[in-house]
Amino acid sequence: MNETHDQSLLHGDATAGGTITAAGYRELVARLSNLAHAYYVLDAPLVSDEAYDRLYRTVEAVETLNPRWVLPDSPTRRIGGPPLAGFRKARHPAPLLSLANVFDNDGLVAFDRRIGVAGPSPDMTRYTVEPKLDGLTLALLYAEGRLVRATTRGDGEIGEEVTAQATTIRTIPLVLSMGATGGAGVPRFLMIRGEVTLPLDAFARLNEAREAAGEANYQNPRNAAAGSVRQLNPRITAGRALRFTAYTATVLALDEPVSALPLERLAFEADVAELVASDPIDQDAVTRVFDRLRPSGVASGPFATHWEALLAMRAWGFRTNPHNRQCVDLEETVAVLAELQDLRAGWDEETDGLVVKVNDLATQERLGRVAKDPRWAVAYKVAVSEVVVTRLLDISVQIGRTGAVTPLAVLEPVRLGGVTVSSATLHNDDQVRALDLRIGDWVRVQRAGGVIPAILGVDGEGSRRDGRETEWTFPTACPACDGPIVRDGDEAVARCTNASCPAQRSARVRHFAGRSAVDIAGLGGNWIDRLISSALIANAADLYHVTLPDLLAIDGHGMGEVLAQKLCDAVDRTRRQTSLARFLFGLGIRHVGSETAELLAPLVGSLDGFCHRLRTDRDEFLGELGAQMLETKGVGPVVAQSVNDALSNPSMLELLERFTTGGMSPVPAAQSPKPPGQGPLAGKTLVLTGTMSESRDAIAALVGASGGKVTDAVSGATSFVVAGEKPGGSKIKGAAKHSVPVIDEVTLRSML
Ligand code: IVH
Repeated sequence: MNETHDQSLLHGDATAGGTITAAGYRELVARLSNLAHAYYVLDAPLVSDEAYDRLYRTVEAVETLNPRWVLPDSPTRRIGGPPLAGFRKARHPAPLLSLANVFDNDGLVAFDRRIGVAGPSPDMTRYTVEPKLDGLTLALLYAEGRLVRATTRGDGEIGEEVTAQATTIRTIPLVLSMGATGGAGVPRFLMIRGEVTLPLDAFARLNEAREAAGEANYQNPRNAAAGSVRQLNPRITAGRALRFTAYTATVLALDEPVSALPLERLAFEADVAELVASDPIDQDAVTRVFDRLRPSGVASGPFATHWEALLAMRAWGFRTNPHNRQCVDLEETVAVLAELQDLRAGWDEETDGLVVKVNDLATQERLGRVAKDPRWAVAYKVAVSEVVVTRLLDISVQIGRTGAVTPLAVLEPVRLGGVTVSSATLHNDDQVRALDLRIGDWVRVQRAGGVIPAILGVDGEGSRRDGRETEWTFPTACPACDGPIVRDGDEAVARCTNASCPAQRSARVRHFAGRSAVDIAGLGGNWIDRLISSALIANAADLYHVTLPDLLAIDGHGMGEVLAQKLCDAVDRTRRQTSLARFLFGLGIRHVGSETAELLAPLVGSLDGFCHRLRTDRDEFLGELGAQMLETKGVGPVVAQSVNDALSNPSMLELLERFTTGGMSPVPAAQSPKPPGQGPLAGKTLVLTGTMSESRDAIAALVGASGGKVTDAVSGATSFVVAGEKPGGSKIKGAAKHSVPVIDEVTLRSML
């Protein structure tokens, strides 16, 4: 500690005889900023990490001794301030538009044709192509070159102010470089829009650390990036290796009529002076200044093309994407899209497509927008379906909630479609034989869209085998309970027939606690396994009898106090907030998917009444219920039989009563939280196409629970088409024909 305060550490020409001057300090900061820019933005370090750290500590020491010298853009200021009390809302000076999607080259050709003659003259570079980064959008405001506000996208008009968090991100310049190349100085007021991402290696490290600390994993790098910025403690943001990539620059200027009034003008200048001098930045002053600003228009702006804007942003100190490209015409654009599409899977951050933009800014201005989508840009969203070769290390088996035993390929970890995969499903024993897989084989693996990877076959038809590969045989005993595994006649699935098998119990509880069922936040598979192995629970109903002290005392090392309290709270919330339909779905009765459960819930009434009738006049009740089910459109005899079988089993009544004595009280269907006609999608008709993260039924149930409905064909009455991976061409064409907006699953979920 004392050593860092020792001024003899300060060497070089910034110091004179061991005593540093204010000018010397500024020079050290400039040198440090330069090194930080080379390291973080250009990805080309100029010195070793040790040398950088030494200079950093020196600057830190000088600042401790001379607090009045501290420059607002000193790299030491990126550690994050104290936690905030809440987020403030802030209005964007210009709306943040979104992008319409195209799914193939036909879509792109149609886009090019729409631009047609309104486009730039043929001798100009027509388009730019950029990666569409999948992260959190930020709008940054700069006044006289200084970062004064960062806001999340929000609804495009108003977002959350996250300046304190943003200043910790090293790729966000606190002060812009003035000596910009190309003659474009720094405009006095600017809005920069870009994406915050968490590179894949940092994402993997973050999840490892969270797992070690018993915290829930982030589902994907986008959630991790968003979660790292949208939380109140800037020091947490500072600890995450986030990256900001800039992609649009909007020059802002005073409204003409206002700037013409001398008094208004004086008041404005006074506000700007106050804003620029404030430390910490006075957000009310930012609002006063930027509320009076509008996009200046291309004619008076410093650049004529989008490409020039990208170059200018780079010169000002931003990271721009190294994969950005310029394309003279449509033909080159198609070629570049194909080229980047092949490279995408190997990039170090996630993308969810490519963006094609009209390069000429005057043309952009002329084209304008339709609703929230600019006419001059589209997102080109073609799923990456890359094939990679890796080693088959082992085949293990998974036990499902019905006892179904499915083989799982254990793979040598390999990058595929932007993520690391280490396992793949194999449907059954027959598939393992059909592919002739041996442990140690080199196998070809494919991930089509968001779904779990699949093994296509042995690479080189087995010519790469060296004789050390071993055959795999399907187990005859369950690896979890040692019970017999049985395969009935010509059924393709083998099953563990022991109903008290811990792996089956675990799978049933996972299903119950899962997102599309009762949704117990934070209860992951590992904890479910531990609760079962320490005999705290044997089924989902037991969760409602577990107490805080139980959790703290789990064998081995118990659950931490904070986590245990969170879990108790999460379970408790579900006692009164679960719809009966989700509860019924959570029971995991065969053939009862979430949509069927919606249909059954009104027939069942309430859990209490249901238990009562099962206890007192079961056969009559089941008879009535059976008849009602068969009268219900969408419920067939297979479902009715399966429900009847499940409810006739005395252990089902026992289970349901264990739920009620634990205080589980699902909201009866008649008073469901969101009856039809209410909810965010009330009155909306949606058409689904392509593969999504959950089954069609599950998505349709979510839409239904939000008041909307799902139909099969696109017509003028369709509100949205929701396109997953590999959407059907006819539905997308139908959408274009009827001018129905096409949205993706993420957008749909944000609406729910
Ligand atoms: S341009 C008006 N360029 O994708 C232009 N957007 O729905 C609109 N995104 O959340 C944005 N990478 O923030 C543009 N290179 C890129 C992008 C990009 C990611 C995001 C954008 C928005 C979404 C578009």
